[in-house]
Amino acid sequence: ARIAVLISGEGRNLQALIEACAAQRIDGEIVLVLSNRAQARGLLRAQQAGIATATLAHRDYASREDFDAAMLRVLAEARPDFVVLAGFMRILTPAFIRAYAGRLLNIHPSLLPRHPGLNTHQAVIDAGETEHGATVHFVTEELDGGPRIIQGQFKRRIEDDAEALAERVMQEVELKIYPQAVAWMARGELTMADDGRVSLRGKM
Ligand code: GRF
Repeated sequence: ARIAVLISGEGRNLQALIEACAAQRIDGEIVLVLSNRAQARGLLRAQQAGIATATLAHRDYASREDFDAAMLRVLAEARPDFVVLAGFMRILTPAFIRAYAGRLLNIHPSLLPRHPGLNTHQAVIDAGETEHGATVHFVTEELDGGPRIIQGQFKRRIEDDAEALAERVMQEVELKIYPQAVAWMARGELTMADDGRVSLRGKM
């Protein structure tokens, strides 16, 4: 499968996907890493792995629609089978989401439907919750609200502050569940129907 990854920053999820492709745990190739920030460290990770990169600075565009249209053009040249959001910190327009309906994955650092949006780790502390984790889901027009694919969770320790939780979500959950979901997708085993129903061939 041909995979495109959208990033904005550090790119640790991207790194896990690069390694899973190299180890053939994902039957696919990352054909493009696209960032909205030129300084994103994930771009260097991609370049070190010999993966094509592109940067489109959202500030160079007059509107979200224009920015997304530019991203769609760059993506179209890379001909991805599906697109993976890995710490991509821009909200996508309906036009973009429709162009990749059923072919667009995101990872979110909470146990959705709890805590969509930003600052999820502090939100978990403030709500006094004892479980935390991350969710991979298909992207739909509802922010962080698309059909869920896989979640991983852990028990919050009393001493875990927001920073510690962020680290645990990444290390204990995200770096494991995202390569798994992308592997299913690359094998064509994971689909989202028009009514939003997720099916995982042979496993669900
Ligand atoms: C992850 O926690 C992701 O869920 C969130 O931003 C973080 C991205 O980190 N949306 P990285 O860029 O993959 O290192």
